[in-house]
Amino acid sequence: VLKEDQSLPKATKVTIGHKDVKLGDEETQGLRVKVSGRIHHLRPQKHATFITLADGYGFLQCVLAAGDLTKSYDAVMFALGTSLTVYGEMKKVPASQSAPDNRELHVDYYKVIGHAPADKEALTNRVSASQNQWDSQMLDHRHLVLRGENASSLIKTRAALELAFIQFYAKAKFTKLSPPALVQTQVEGGSTLFKVPYYDEDAYLTQTSQLYLETALPSFGNVYCIEKSFRAEKSLTRRHLSEYTHVEAEMDFIEFSDLLDHLEEIICSVIDTVLADDEIASYIRKMNPGFEAPSRPFLRMRYSDAIDWLNSQDPPILNEFDAPHTFGDDIAEAAERKMTDIINRPIFLTHFPADLKAFYMKKDSSDLRVTESVDVLMPGVGEIVGASMRMEDYDELMDAFKRHGISPDAYYWYNDQRRYGTSPHGGYGLGLERLLAWVCKQHTVRTCCMYPRFMGRCRP
Ligand code: 4AD
Repeated sequence: VLKEDQSLPKATKVTIGHKDVKLGDEETQGLRVKVSGRIHHLRPQKHATFITLADGYGFLQCVLAAGDLTKSYDAVMFALGTSLTVYGEMKKVPASQSAPDNRELHVDYYKVIGHAPADKEALTNRVSASQNQWDSQMLDHRHLVLRGENASSLIKTRAALELAFIQFYAKAKFTKLSPPALVQTQVEGGSTLFKVPYYDEDAYLTQTSQLYLETALPSFGNVYCIEKSFRAEKSLTRRHLSEYTHVEAEMDFIEFSDLLDHLEEIICSVIDTVLADDEIASYIRKMNPGFEAPSRPFLRMRYSDAIDWLNSQDPPILNEFDAPHTFGDDIAEAAERKMTDIINRPIFLTHFPADLKAFYMKKDSSDLRVTESVDVLMPGVGEIVGASMRMEDYDELMDAFKRHGISPDAYYWYNDQRRYGTSPHGGYGLGLERLLAWVCKQHTVRTCCMYPRFMGRCRP
Protein backbone atom coordinates (compact mmCIF):
# COMPACT_ATOMS: atom_id res chain seq x y z
CA VAL A 1 0.00 0.00 0.00
CA LEU A 2 1.24 3.41 -0.98
CA LYS A 3 2.02 5.94 1.78
CA GLU A 4 2.26 9.70 1.47
CA ASP A 5 5.66 11.11 2.38
CA GLN A 6 4.78 13.29 5.40
CA SER A 7 7.92 15.41 4.95
CA LEU A 8 6.54 16.88 1.72
CA PRO A 9 4.74 20.25 1.83
CA LYS A 10 0.95 20.12 2.23
CA ALA A 11 -0.74 19.88 -1.20
CA THR A 12 -2.96 22.73 -2.48
CA LYS A 13 -6.23 21.57 -4.08
CA VAL A 14 -6.64 22.66 -7.72
CA THR A 15 -8.84 21.67 -10.68
CA ILE A 16 -7.53 20.97 -14.16
CA GLY A 17 -9.50 23.92 -15.47
CA HIS A 18 -7.86 26.21 -12.93
CA LYS A 19 -5.30 27.52 -15.35
CA ASP A 20 -4.82 30.91 -13.71
CA VAL A 21 -2.75 29.19 -11.01
CA LYS A 22 -0.09 29.40 -13.76
CA LEU A 23 1.07 25.94 -12.89
CA GLY A 24 4.49 25.09 -14.13
CA ASP A 25 5.59 28.72 -14.11
CA GLU A 26 8.67 29.95 -12.29
CA GLU A 27 6.61 31.45 -9.48
CA THR A 28 4.86 28.19 -8.67
CA GLN A 29 7.98 26.06 -9.04
CA GLY A 30 7.95 23.59 -6.20
CA LEU A 31 4.26 24.12 -5.38
CA ARG A 32 2.73 20.80 -4.42
CA VAL A 33 -0.86 20.31 -5.61
CA LYS A 34 -3.58 17.69 -5.52
CA VAL A 35 -5.99 17.18 -8.40
CA SER A 36 -8.97 14.83 -8.67
CA GLY A 37 -10.24 13.32 -11.90
CA ARG A 38 -10.63 10.15 -13.91
CA ILE A 39 -8.18 8.27 -16.08
CA HIS A 40 -8.82 9.28 -19.67
CA HIS A 41 -5.73 7.69 -21.25
CA LEU A 42 -3.29 5.27 -19.73
CA ARG A 43 0.21 4.56 -21.10
CA PRO A 44 2.40 2.28 -19.00
CA GLN A 45 6.00 2.56 -20.19
CA LYS A 46 9.27 1.17 -18.95
CA HIS A 47 10.44 4.21 -17.01
CA ALA A 48 7.09 5.68 -16.08
CA THR A 49 3.33 5.34 -16.40
CA PHE A 50 1.64 8.26 -18.13
CA ILE A 51 -1.94 9.05 -17.18
CA THR A 52 -4.11 11.66 -18.83
CA LEU A 53 -6.47 12.78 -16.11
CA ALA A 54 -9.84 14.37 -17.00
CA ASP A 55 -12.18 16.29 -14.73
CA GLY A 56 -14.63 17.80 -17.22
CA TYR A 57 -12.65 21.06 -17.39
CA GLY A 58 -9.68 19.76 -19.33
CA PHE A 59 -6.89 17.23 -19.36
CA LEU A 60 -3.75 16.89 -17.29
CA GLN A 61 -0.78 14.67 -18.01
CA CYS A 62 0.44 12.87 -14.91
CA VAL A 63 3.79 11.09 -14.73
CA LEU A 64 4.27 8.21 -12.28
CA ALA A 65 7.91 7.17 -12.16
CA ALA A 66 8.32 3.40 -12.30
CA GLY A 67 8.75 1.99 -8.80
CA ASP A 68 6.46 1.99 -5.76
CA LEU A 69 3.98 4.26 -7.54
CA THR A 70 3.47 1.85 -10.42
CA LYS A 71 3.75 -1.43 -8.52
CA SER A 72 0.93 -1.01 -6.02
CA TYR A 73 -2.29 -3.06 -6.29
CA ASP A 74 -4.15 0.14 -7.21
CA ALA A 75 -1.71 0.86 -10.04
CA VAL A 76 -2.07 -2.62 -11.45
CA MET A 77 -5.84 -2.11 -11.44
CA PHE A 78 -5.70 1.29 -13.19
CA ALA A 79 -8.24 1.44 -16.06
CA LEU A 80 -10.05 3.98 -18.19
CA GLY A 81 -12.49 5.68 -15.87
CA THR A 82 -10.69 5.00 -12.57
CA SER A 83 -11.24 8.03 -10.34
CA LEU A 84 -8.39 9.18 -8.17
CA THR A 85 -6.67 12.10 -6.52
CA VAL A 86 -3.07 12.62 -7.55
CA TYR A 87 -0.51 14.60 -5.57
CA GLY A 88 2.68 16.07 -6.84
CA GLU A 89 4.49 18.97 -8.43
CA MET A 90 3.35 20.61 -11.64
CA LYS A 91 6.17 21.08 -14.15
CA LYS A 92 6.64 22.30 -17.68
CA VAL A 93 6.73 19.56 -20.25
CA PRO A 94 10.25 18.92 -21.60
CA ALA A 95 10.73 20.83 -24.87
CA SER A 96 10.84 17.65 -26.95
CA GLN A 97 7.41 16.47 -25.74
CA SER A 98 3.88 17.78 -25.70
CA ALA A 99 0.99 17.57 -23.24
CA PRO A 100 -2.27 19.49 -22.67
CA ASP A 101 -1.55 23.09 -21.60
CA ASN A 102 2.14 22.30 -21.79
CA ARG A 103 2.35 21.05 -18.23
CA GLU A 104 2.57 17.75 -16.40
CA LEU A 105 2.15 16.62 -12.84
CA HIS A 106 5.07 14.69 -11.39
CA VAL A 107 3.17 12.44 -9.04
CA ASP A 108 4.56 11.57 -5.62
CA TYR A 109 1.38 10.01 -4.20
CA TYR A 110 -2.19 9.12 -5.24
CA LYS A 111 -5.39 7.82 -3.72
CA VAL A 112 -7.79 5.77 -5.82
CA ILE A 113 -11.41 6.78 -5.19
CA GLY A 114 -13.26 4.35 -7.48
CA HIS A 115 -11.97 1.54 -9.65
CA ALA A 116 -13.38 0.81 -13.12
CA PRO A 117 -13.49 -2.46 -15.06
CA ALA A 118 -10.15 -3.02 -16.77
CA ASP A 119 -10.72 -6.01 -19.06
CA LYS A 120 -10.90 -5.77 -22.86
CA GLU A 121 -14.68 -6.16 -22.75
CA ALA A 122 -15.03 -3.19 -20.38
CA LEU A 123 -17.56 -0.80 -21.87
CA THR A 124 -15.11 2.07 -21.55
CA ASN A 125 -12.69 0.25 -23.87
CA ARG A 126 -15.37 -0.69 -26.39
CA VAL A 127 -16.82 2.78 -26.39
CA SER A 128 -13.47 4.47 -26.90
CA ALA A 129 -12.69 2.14 -29.82
CA SER A 130 -16.00 2.77 -31.61
CA GLN A 131 -16.14 5.03 -34.66
CA ASN A 132 -19.85 5.85 -34.71
CA GLN A 133 -21.38 7.63 -31.77
CA TRP A 134 -24.81 7.13 -33.26
CA ASP A 135 -24.97 3.37 -33.77
CA SER A 136 -27.46 1.61 -31.56
CA GLN A 137 -24.92 -0.03 -29.23
CA MET A 138 -23.20 3.26 -28.65
CA LEU A 139 -26.55 4.91 -27.96
CA ASP A 140 -27.26 2.22 -25.33
CA HIS A 141 -23.98 3.29 -23.73
CA ARG A 142 -24.44 6.97 -24.28
CA HIS A 143 -23.66 7.59 -20.60
CA LEU A 144 -20.11 6.36 -21.25
CA VAL A 145 -19.85 7.76 -24.79
CA LEU A 146 -20.40 11.21 -23.27
CA ARG A 147 -17.08 10.81 -21.46
CA GLY A 148 -15.25 10.80 -24.78
CA GLU A 149 -13.70 13.91 -26.25
CA ASN A 150 -15.86 13.92 -29.40
CA ALA A 151 -19.15 13.77 -27.55
CA SER A 152 -18.16 16.08 -24.74
CA SER A 153 -16.70 18.81 -26.94
CA LEU A 154 -19.85 18.70 -29.08
CA ILE A 155 -22.11 19.09 -26.05
CA LYS A 156 -19.89 21.88 -24.71
CA THR A 157 -20.29 23.66 -28.03
CA ARG A 158 -24.03 23.20 -27.76
CA ALA A 159 -24.01 24.79 -24.31
CA ALA A 160 -21.97 27.70 -25.69
CA LEU A 161 -24.44 28.21 -28.54
CA GLU A 162 -27.37 28.23 -26.15
CA LEU A 163 -25.61 30.73 -23.90
CA ALA A 164 -24.87 32.93 -26.93
CA PHE A 165 -28.61 33.06 -27.70
CA ILE A 166 -29.42 34.01 -24.12
CA GLN A 167 -26.80 36.77 -24.23
CA PHE A 168 -28.07 38.08 -27.56
CA TYR A 169 -31.66 38.21 -26.31
CA ALA A 170 -30.67 39.85 -23.05
CA LYS A 171 -28.84 42.57 -24.94
CA ALA A 172 -31.77 43.05 -27.31
CA LYS A 173 -34.18 43.24 -24.34
CA PHE A 174 -36.26 40.20 -25.14
CA THR A 175 -37.95 38.73 -22.06
CA LYS A 176 -37.35 35.03 -21.44
CA LEU A 177 -40.52 33.07 -20.78
CA SER A 178 -41.30 29.49 -19.92
CA PRO A 179 -44.55 28.40 -21.61
CA PRO A 180 -46.19 25.09 -20.66
CA ALA A 181 -45.10 21.74 -22.08
CA LEU A 182 -48.52 20.14 -21.51
CA VAL A 183 -51.05 21.66 -23.89
CA GLN A 184 -54.42 20.98 -25.48
CA THR A 185 -53.88 22.48 -28.92
CA GLN A 186 -52.06 21.29 -32.02
CA VAL A 187 -50.02 23.78 -34.00
CA GLU A 188 -47.71 21.98 -36.41
CA GLY A 189 -50.02 19.19 -37.60
CA GLY A 190 -51.98 16.51 -35.75
CA SER A 191 -49.87 13.63 -37.04
CA THR A 192 -46.86 14.41 -34.84
CA LEU A 193 -48.70 14.96 -31.55
CA PHE A 194 -47.75 12.95 -28.49
CA LYS A 195 -50.95 12.38 -26.54
CA VAL A 196 -50.66 11.98 -22.79
CA PRO A 197 -53.33 11.18 -20.21
CA TYR A 198 -53.95 14.27 -18.09
CA TYR A 199 -56.12 13.38 -15.07
CA ASP A 200 -59.46 12.67 -16.71
CA GLU A 201 -58.69 14.64 -19.85
CA ASP A 202 -56.27 14.26 -22.74
CA ALA A 203 -53.31 16.57 -23.28
CA TYR A 204 -50.41 16.75 -25.72
CA LEU A 205 -46.72 17.40 -25.34
CA THR A 206 -46.10 20.77 -26.94
CA GLN A 207 -44.86 20.95 -30.55
CA THR A 208 -43.96 24.62 -30.24
CA SER A 209 -44.39 27.44 -27.74
CA GLN A 210 -45.24 29.90 -30.48
CA LEU A 211 -48.91 30.47 -29.67
CA TYR A 212 -48.10 31.14 -26.02
CA LEU A 213 -45.33 33.55 -26.96
CA GLU A 214 -47.78 35.44 -29.16
CA THR A 215 -50.12 35.92 -26.21
CA ALA A 216 -47.25 37.49 -24.24
CA LEU A 217 -46.43 40.32 -26.66
CA PRO A 218 -48.79 42.89 -25.10
CA SER A 219 -47.27 42.33 -21.63
CA PHE A 220 -43.58 42.09 -22.43
CA GLY A 221 -42.86 43.34 -25.94
CA ASN A 222 -40.47 40.96 -27.69
CA VAL A 223 -40.17 37.58 -26.01
CA TYR A 224 -38.32 34.29 -26.36
CA CYS A 225 -38.04 30.87 -24.83
CA ILE A 226 -35.66 27.94 -25.04
CA GLU A 227 -37.76 24.91 -24.22
CA LYS A 228 -38.22 21.34 -25.33
CA SER A 229 -40.62 20.66 -28.20
CA PHE A 230 -41.96 17.20 -28.93
CA ARG A 231 -42.83 15.62 -32.26
CA ALA A 232 -44.01 12.06 -32.76
CA GLU A 233 -42.04 11.79 -36.02
CA LYS A 234 -42.83 8.43 -37.54
CA SER A 235 -39.80 8.19 -39.81
CA LEU A 236 -36.13 7.87 -39.00
CA THR A 237 -34.15 10.63 -40.62
CA ARG A 238 -30.85 12.30 -39.92
CA ARG A 239 -32.51 15.46 -38.69
CA HIS A 240 -35.67 14.48 -36.83
CA LEU A 241 -35.89 13.87 -33.11
CA SER A 242 -38.93 13.14 -30.94
CA GLU A 243 -37.74 15.64 -28.36
CA TYR A 244 -35.63 18.64 -29.30
CA THR A 245 -34.58 21.99 -27.94
CA HIS A 246 -36.49 24.78 -29.60
CA VAL A 247 -35.19 28.34 -29.55
CA GLU A 248 -38.28 30.44 -30.27
CA ALA A 249 -38.90 34.18 -30.35
CA GLU A 250 -41.82 36.43 -31.16
CA MET A 251 -41.62 40.10 -32.08
CA ASP A 252 -44.33 42.75 -31.99
CA PHE A 253 -45.10 45.55 -34.45
CA ILE A 254 -42.75 44.34 -37.18
CA GLU A 255 -42.81 43.72 -40.91
CA PHE A 256 -41.58 40.64 -42.74
CA SER A 257 -38.30 42.34 -43.69
CA ASP A 258 -37.64 43.06 -39.98
CA LEU A 259 -38.03 39.36 -39.26
CA LEU A 260 -35.50 38.44 -41.97
CA ASP A 261 -33.00 41.06 -40.77
CA HIS A 262 -33.33 39.86 -37.20
CA LEU A 263 -32.73 36.24 -38.18
CA GLU A 264 -29.60 37.16 -40.10
CA GLU A 265 -28.35 39.16 -37.16
CA ILE A 266 -28.99 36.61 -34.45
CA ILE A 267 -27.49 33.71 -36.41
CA CYS A 268 -24.35 35.69 -37.27
CA SER A 269 -24.03 37.05 -33.75
CA VAL A 270 -24.36 33.64 -32.11
CA ILE A 271 -21.70 32.20 -34.42
CA ASP A 272 -19.36 35.15 -33.78
CA THR A 273 -19.82 34.73 -30.03
CA VAL A 274 -18.89 31.06 -29.98
CA LEU A 275 -15.95 31.56 -32.34
CA ALA A 276 -14.62 34.28 -30.03
CA ASP A 277 -14.28 31.67 -27.28
CA ASP A 278 -10.89 30.01 -27.89
CA GLU A 279 -11.84 26.71 -26.30
CA ILE A 280 -15.11 26.38 -28.24
CA ALA A 281 -13.50 27.62 -31.45
CA SER A 282 -10.86 24.90 -31.13
CA TYR A 283 -13.58 22.23 -30.81
CA ILE A 284 -15.40 23.58 -33.86
CA ARG A 285 -12.19 23.67 -35.92
CA LYS A 286 -11.47 20.09 -34.97
CA MET A 287 -14.94 18.81 -35.83
CA ASN A 288 -15.49 21.03 -38.85
CA PRO A 289 -12.11 22.26 -40.15
CA GLY A 290 -13.62 24.24 -43.02
CA PHE A 291 -16.16 26.11 -40.91
CA GLU A 292 -16.39 29.84 -41.48
CA ALA A 293 -18.82 32.34 -40.04
CA PRO A 294 -21.50 32.95 -42.70
CA SER A 295 -21.22 36.14 -44.68
CA ARG A 296 -24.10 38.58 -44.89
CA PRO A 297 -26.50 39.13 -46.50
CA PHE A 298 -27.84 35.58 -46.70
CA LEU A 299 -29.11 34.51 -50.10
CA ARG A 300 -32.84 35.29 -50.28
CA MET A 301 -34.79 33.00 -52.56
CA ARG A 302 -38.54 32.80 -53.04
CA TYR A 303 -40.17 29.38 -52.98
CA SER A 304 -41.29 29.83 -56.61
CA ASP A 305 -37.68 30.58 -57.66
CA ALA A 306 -36.51 27.51 -55.77
CA ILE A 307 -38.96 25.40 -57.80
CA ASP A 308 -37.45 26.85 -61.01
CA TRP A 309 -33.95 26.31 -59.67
CA LEU A 310 -34.63 22.63 -58.85
CA ASN A 311 -36.00 22.06 -62.36
CA SER A 312 -33.12 23.91 -64.02
CA GLN A 313 -30.46 21.58 -62.60
CA ASP A 314 -28.86 19.02 -64.87
CA PRO A 315 -30.28 16.47 -64.16
CA PRO A 316 -33.31 18.19 -62.58
CA ILE A 317 -33.82 17.56 -58.86
CA LEU A 318 -37.13 15.69 -58.70
CA ASN A 319 -39.93 15.75 -56.15
CA GLU A 320 -41.00 12.92 -53.81
CA PHE A 321 -42.82 11.23 -56.68
CA ASP A 322 -39.81 11.36 -59.02
CA ALA A 323 -41.46 14.06 -61.12
CA PRO A 324 -40.29 17.61 -61.81
CA HIS A 325 -41.33 20.07 -59.11
CA THR A 326 -44.39 22.22 -59.74
CA PHE A 327 -45.68 25.21 -57.76
CA GLY A 328 -47.46 23.84 -54.69
CA ASP A 329 -45.14 20.84 -54.19
CA ASP A 330 -43.51 20.35 -50.85
CA ILE A 331 -39.74 20.60 -51.24
CA ALA A 332 -38.92 17.36 -49.44
CA GLU A 333 -35.88 16.76 -47.26
CA ALA A 334 -33.79 15.12 -49.98
CA ALA A 335 -34.36 17.88 -52.57
CA GLU A 336 -33.86 20.59 -50.00
CA ARG A 337 -30.60 19.02 -48.88
CA LYS A 338 -29.30 18.75 -52.45
CA MET A 339 -30.16 22.38 -53.12
CA THR A 340 -28.52 23.60 -49.93
CA ASP A 341 -25.40 21.54 -50.55
CA ILE A 342 -25.02 22.78 -54.15
CA ILE A 343 -25.59 26.43 -53.23
CA ASN A 344 -23.37 25.85 -50.17
CA ARG A 345 -24.27 28.95 -48.15
CA PRO A 346 -27.14 29.93 -45.86
CA ILE A 347 -30.40 30.46 -47.72
CA PHE A 348 -33.55 32.31 -46.71
CA LEU A 349 -36.23 30.38 -48.58
CA THR A 350 -39.30 32.63 -48.49
CA HIS A 351 -42.94 32.92 -49.55
CA PHE A 352 -44.14 29.33 -49.27
CA PRO A 353 -47.63 28.55 -50.60
CA ALA A 354 -50.28 28.88 -47.89
CA ASP A 355 -51.46 25.32 -48.53
CA LEU A 356 -48.07 23.90 -47.52
CA LYS A 357 -47.78 25.77 -44.27
CA ALA A 358 -49.39 26.01 -40.84
CA PHE A 359 -52.77 27.72 -40.38
CA TYR A 360 -51.40 30.79 -38.56
CA MET A 361 -49.15 32.17 -41.31
CA LYS A 362 -49.94 35.57 -42.74
CA LYS A 363 -50.53 35.82 -46.48
CA ASP A 364 -48.47 38.07 -48.72
CA SER A 365 -50.82 40.90 -49.72
CA SER A 366 -49.23 41.09 -53.20
CA ASP A 367 -49.76 37.36 -53.92
CA LEU A 368 -52.43 35.71 -51.79
CA ARG A 369 -51.27 32.22 -52.82
CA VAL A 370 -48.17 32.59 -50.67
CA THR A 371 -47.31 33.44 -47.08
CA GLU A 372 -44.83 35.78 -45.43
CA SER A 373 -42.79 32.81 -44.31
CA VAL A 374 -39.14 31.81 -44.35
CA ASP A 375 -37.14 28.68 -43.74
CA VAL A 376 -33.45 29.15 -43.06
CA LEU A 377 -31.46 26.41 -44.81
CA MET A 378 -27.88 25.48 -43.99
CA PRO A 379 -25.45 23.33 -45.99
CA GLY A 380 -25.26 19.75 -44.77
CA VAL A 381 -28.44 19.97 -42.71
CA GLY A 382 -31.15 21.87 -44.56
CA GLU A 383 -33.83 23.66 -42.58
CA ILE A 384 -32.73 24.92 -39.18
CA VAL A 385 -35.33 27.69 -38.73
CA GLY A 386 -39.03 27.98 -39.53
CA ALA A 387 -40.41 31.52 -39.32
CA SER A 388 -43.31 33.65 -40.42
CA MET A 389 -45.47 36.67 -39.90
CA ARG A 390 -48.68 35.70 -38.11
CA MET A 391 -52.23 36.25 -39.29
CA GLU A 392 -53.40 39.24 -37.33
CA ASP A 393 -57.00 39.56 -38.55
CA TYR A 394 -59.59 37.68 -36.51
CA ASP A 395 -61.94 36.74 -39.37
CA GLU A 396 -59.09 35.64 -41.59
CA LEU A 397 -57.78 33.44 -38.78
CA MET A 398 -61.24 31.88 -38.32
CA ASP A 399 -61.28 31.08 -42.06
CA ALA A 400 -57.82 29.53 -41.77
CA PHE A 401 -58.95 27.22 -38.95
CA LYS A 402 -61.88 26.16 -41.12
CA ARG A 403 -59.66 25.48 -44.15
CA HIS A 404 -57.33 23.35 -42.03
CA GLY A 405 -60.23 21.46 -40.44
CA ILE A 406 -59.36 22.62 -36.92
CA SER A 407 -62.00 23.72 -34.43
CA PRO A 408 -61.06 27.17 -33.10
CA ASP A 409 -62.70 26.60 -29.70
CA ALA A 410 -59.65 25.26 -27.90
CA TYR A 411 -57.70 28.26 -29.24
CA TYR A 412 -59.97 30.95 -27.71
CA TRP A 413 -57.04 32.41 -25.76
CA TYR A 414 -54.95 32.64 -28.94
CA ASN A 415 -57.77 34.13 -30.98
CA ASP A 416 -58.41 36.75 -28.32
CA GLN A 417 -55.08 38.33 -29.28
CA ARG A 418 -56.84 39.35 -32.50
CA ARG A 419 -59.86 40.68 -30.64
CA TYR A 420 -58.10 42.62 -27.90
CA GLY A 421 -55.82 44.94 -29.84
CA THR A 422 -54.21 42.98 -32.64
CA SER A 423 -50.80 43.84 -34.12
CA PRO A 424 -48.53 42.92 -37.00
CA HIS A 425 -46.12 40.42 -35.47
CA GLY A 426 -44.00 37.44 -36.33
CA GLY A 427 -41.48 35.01 -35.00
CA TYR A 428 -39.53 31.84 -35.48
CA GLY A 429 -38.37 28.56 -34.11
CA LEU A 430 -34.81 27.27 -34.43
CA GLY A 431 -33.81 23.68 -33.72
CA LEU A 432 -30.72 23.87 -31.51
CA GLU A 433 -29.58 20.36 -32.51
CA ARG A 434 -29.79 21.25 -36.21
CA LEU A 435 -27.81 24.43 -35.68
CA LEU A 436 -25.17 22.42 -33.85
CA ALA A 437 -25.14 19.75 -36.58
CA TRP A 438 -24.39 22.48 -39.12
CA VAL A 439 -21.68 24.21 -37.05
CA CYS A 440 -19.95 20.97 -36.06
CA LYS A 441 -20.60 19.02 -39.28
CA GLN A 442 -22.50 16.18 -37.65
CA HIS A 443 -23.97 13.43 -39.77
CA THR A 444 -27.11 13.40 -37.63
CA VAL A 445 -28.82 15.47 -34.95
CA ARG A 446 -28.75 12.39 -32.74
CA THR A 447 -25.21 13.13 -31.62
CA CYS A 448 -26.21 16.71 -30.91
CA CYS A 449 -28.23 15.90 -27.77
CA MET A 450 -27.15 14.53 -24.46
CA TYR A 451 -29.56 11.57 -24.64
CA PRO A 452 -31.34 11.57 -28.02
CA ARG A 453 -34.98 10.61 -28.34
CA PHE A 454 -36.34 9.33 -31.64
CA MET A 455 -38.75 6.64 -32.80
CA GLY A 456 -37.70 3.42 -31.08
CA ARG A 457 -35.41 5.01 -28.53
CA CYS A 458 -36.30 6.41 -25.15
CA ARG A 459 -33.31 5.24 -23.06
CA PRO A 460 -30.98 5.71 -21.30
O1 4AD B 1 -40.76 24.60 -38.75
P1 4AD B 1 -41.27 24.25 -37.39
O2 4AD B 1 -42.21 23.12 -37.27
O3 4AD B 1 -41.90 25.59 -36.84
C1 4AD B 1 -42.56 25.74 -35.68
O4 4AD B 1 -42.73 24.90 -34.83
C2 4AD B 1 -42.96 27.16 -35.41
N1 4AD B 1 -44.20 27.17 -34.65
C3 4AD B 1 -41.84 27.83 -34.67
C4 4AD B 1 -42.12 29.27 -34.38
O5 4AD B 1 -42.33 30.02 -35.29
N2 4AD B 1 -42.07 29.66 -33.15
O6 4AD B 1 -40.04 23.97 -36.44
C5 4AD B 1 -39.06 24.95 -36.25
C6 4AD B 1 -37.69 24.33 -36.23
C7 4AD B 1 -37.28 23.63 -37.51
O7 4AD B 1 -36.76 24.56 -38.45
C8 4AD B 1 -36.23 22.67 -37.03
O8 4AD B 1 -34.98 23.31 -36.88
C9 4AD B 1 -36.74 22.29 -35.67
O9 4AD B 1 -37.64 23.30 -35.26
N3 4AD B 1 -37.44 21.02 -35.72
C10 4AD B 1 -36.92 19.84 -35.35
N4 4AD B 1 -35.69 19.54 -34.89
C11 4AD B 1 -35.44 18.24 -34.58
N5 4AD B 1 -36.36 17.26 -34.70
C12 4AD B 1 -37.60 17.52 -35.15
N6 4AD B 1 -38.51 16.54 -35.23
C13 4AD B 1 -37.92 18.87 -35.50
N7 4AD B 1 -39.02 19.48 -35.98
C14 4AD B 1 -38.72 20.78 -36.10
